[in-house]
Amino acid sequence: MSRTAILRNLVHDAPVIAPSVLKVDYGNLHREVQLLERAGASVLHLDVMDAHFVPNLSYGPMVIESLRKLTELPFDAHLMISDPGRYLDDYLSAGCDAITIHIEAVPEPQSLLRDIRKADRLAGIVLNPDTPVERIRPYLDLCDLVLVMSVNPGFGGQKFMPIALEKLKQLRSWLPAETLLSVDGGIGAGTIASAAAAGANYFVAGSAIFDQPDYGAAIRHLADLARTAAAEKPRE
Ligand code: DX5
Ligand code: ZN
Repeated sequence: MSRTAILRNLVHDAPVIAPSVLKVDYGNLHREVQLLERAGASVLHLDVMDAHFVPNLSYGPMVIESLRKLTELPFDAHLMISDPGRYLDDYLSAGCDAITIHIEAVPEPQSLLRDIRKADRLAGIVLNPDTPVERIRPYLDLCDLVLVMSVNPGFGGQKFMPIALEKLKQLRSWLPAETLLSVDGGIGAGTIASAAAAGANYFVAGSAIFDQPDYGAAIRHLADLARTAAAEKPRE
């Protein structure tokens, strides 16, 4: 599917709950993907870590290429790696539909964001809890997805950092409606409503799905909480 078609579908489906493929059973990836499909996931968030940009190692393009054969769900690759431009072609050929790069890894991201869009994929930018939103402001019109980290990246199961909420509010006021505003880290039943009220419409969730026995029920519960909070949000 083209970039615009995927983006249109995701915006239409919002609030999107994107399961983070990190705290999964790596010996049974086929089964995990099937369970997520049956659970009604509309996208998979792939956490790529290089043990350099973040202090943990997960998987790279070879594993993504294998996953690509198992499902037609769009892949949203969150590249927690140093020098992502060097590996962009590998992630494109592996079949990622959205590629999100850290501003801390690529201080001048214009050409990389343009290259991602040139390949007809969604271009995303992400910032860590300590990075101010002003750092990414000049590049927002080159992005289809903006991701606010609500934990320091590297591990699932961390506590949500409320500093993300002010950033989401600020970014939502700067972004056009067709740009996805995402939040990642510590999202669960106790935190998703505040993130939705702050303007997020795309929620990455790891523990809140994978620690539950029924992935479908977990996804639907999170989506309901986000939908209600977004509907109740006071107009500014
Ligand atoms: C953290 C990753 C997240 C993480 C989320 O570095 O980017 O996607 O897996 O996991 P939870 O939802 O458990 O915080
Ligand atoms: Zn992530």
